[in-house]
Order: sequence, then structure tokens, then C-alpha cells
Amino acid sequence: MKIILLGPPGAGKGTQAESICQEYSIPHISTGNMLREAIEAGTELGLEAKSLMDAGILVSDEVIIGLVEERITAPDCSGGFLFDGFPRTIPQAEALIERNIKIEAVVEIDVPNQTIIDRMSGRRMHPASGRNYHIVYNPPKTEGKDDITGEDLIQREDDKPETVKDRLKVYEDQTSPLIEFYSNLSSNDALKYIKVSGTSSPNQVTEDIFYKLKN
Ligand code: AP5
Repeated sequence: MKIILLGPPGAGKGTQAESICQEYSIPHISTGNMLREAIEAGTELGLEAKSLMDAGILVSDEVIIGLVEERITAPDCSGGFLFDGFPRTIPQAEALIERNIKIEAVVEIDVPNQTIIDRMSGRRMHPASGRNYHIVYNPPKTEGKDDITGEDLIQREDDKPETVKDRLKVYEDQTSPLIEFYSNLSSNDALKYIKVSGTSSPNQVTEDIFYKLKN
């Protein structure tokens, strides 16, 4: 199964990715997590990406396409994968078509902007795994600690309210055109396009996604 998760920053893509990947036994490919790993490792890519990400600006299509192209050649991708945060522009989506990578389903998670701003201020992340929590809606078992490793959780640099507003604008301008792009492809039966509301509880959103993917 090859799936794309589409939605604004903070819609719950990373949260839902965990359940979907488990259900379909596919790897989670988050370009945001890959870039954050590069920053952590201090690579050239990380140095290039850091200032852009902190400001909520997209990294260049060329860099991202190269990163994804390499990742999907790994053996764990032979049975499919889930893209989270990719594609994020029309040229990125076209790159998949040019490379004959056939996506079977696009899942759009819809959440209003004000809910997103509220969610981002409470998000906490485990940097090594990319696991996300929320201090109110999805708290860790022990405050400030990852459930699995017990390591410290951090607040992302780009989760400050001013940057979140910029990221929402970038989403509106550069990523939301993908909704029409993939809806059009689905009308030709080439793929399944499903839309769910991301405002109910995380478990309910997962149920809605599975129901629509399987029916
Ligand atoms: P990226 O890391 O991809 O960030 P994003 O798309 O902005 O998405 P987020 O990770 O912020 O949110 P999410 O939808 O995963 O929500 P989450 O599950 O965490 O990208 C970061 C940056 O990298 C970009 O700005 C760009 O610079 C660069 N980049 C990455 N990919 C790129 C690309 N393809 N091209 C160019 N540049 C790229 O949930 C959010 C919070 O809400 C959490 O606290 C969670 O616990 C909580 N929550 C989740 N679901 C619910 C619910 N149902 N109810 C209540 N709370 C919930």
C-alpha cells in the first residue's frame, strides 16, 4: 500500500501515521522527521534546512525529491510506504508521477486554523523517534518524558505561534493546491481520495480513516 497523508501543519498527520503504518505494515516516511534528523546529525543538508524550517519556509523541491527518492529504494519500502508531509508542492507530486510511483490512497485530514494554533502550543516531541504528544489532548504517561524510552520531550522551534501562522500561509499557498490535484486524479479512478475531519479524538480519527480506506 502506498499512501499520502495530506493536511495542514498540526492536523495530526504524524499522530495518525503511527496507526496507519501499523495496520498496513508499512514504513512511515516523514520528510519533516528526516530533515530534523539531518539537523541533529549536523549534516550539510541539516545546516541548509535548519533556518528554513525554523522560519516555517519549505526546503527546495530538488533537495526533498532527492531525499525521498533515496529513501524509497530501501528494502523496507518494497511493500509500500506512507508519506507524511510529502509531497508538499505540485512539482513534488509531479516528480512521483514522472518516476512512475503509483500512489493508491491520499488521506486528507481537515482541521480549522484556530484548532491548529491551539494544538501546536501544547505539542511535545520525542526527537529521536519523532513521536508526538500533547500536554492536554494526548499527554505522555510521565510529564515531559517519552512513553517508550523515558527520554526527555522537547518543544519544536517552529511551534511558536508566529511561526505557526506563517506555516499555515505556506500550506494555503503551496500545499493546498494538491487537494484539487489529487481529487482530479481520483475522479479518473487512478487512486482513492478520502477526507476526514481531524477534530475528533485521535482514536476516532483513526477509525474514520480505516473505515474510509477499507470501504
Ligand atoms: P513537518 O515536520 O512535516 O511539519 P508539518 O507538516 O507542518 O506537520 P506537523 O508535524 O507540524 O503536524 P502533524 O500534522 O504531523 O501533526 P501532529 O500529529 O504532530 O515539516 C516541518 C518543516 O520541514 C516544514 O515547515 C518545512 O520547512 C520542512 N519540510 C518538511 N517536508 C517538506 C517537503 N515535502 N517540502 C519542503 N519542505 C518540507 O499533531 C499536532 C499536535 O496535535 C500534537 O501535539 C498531537 O498530539 C495533537 N493532536 C493530534 N491529533 C489530535 C486530535 N485528533 N485531537 C487533539 N490533539 C491532537
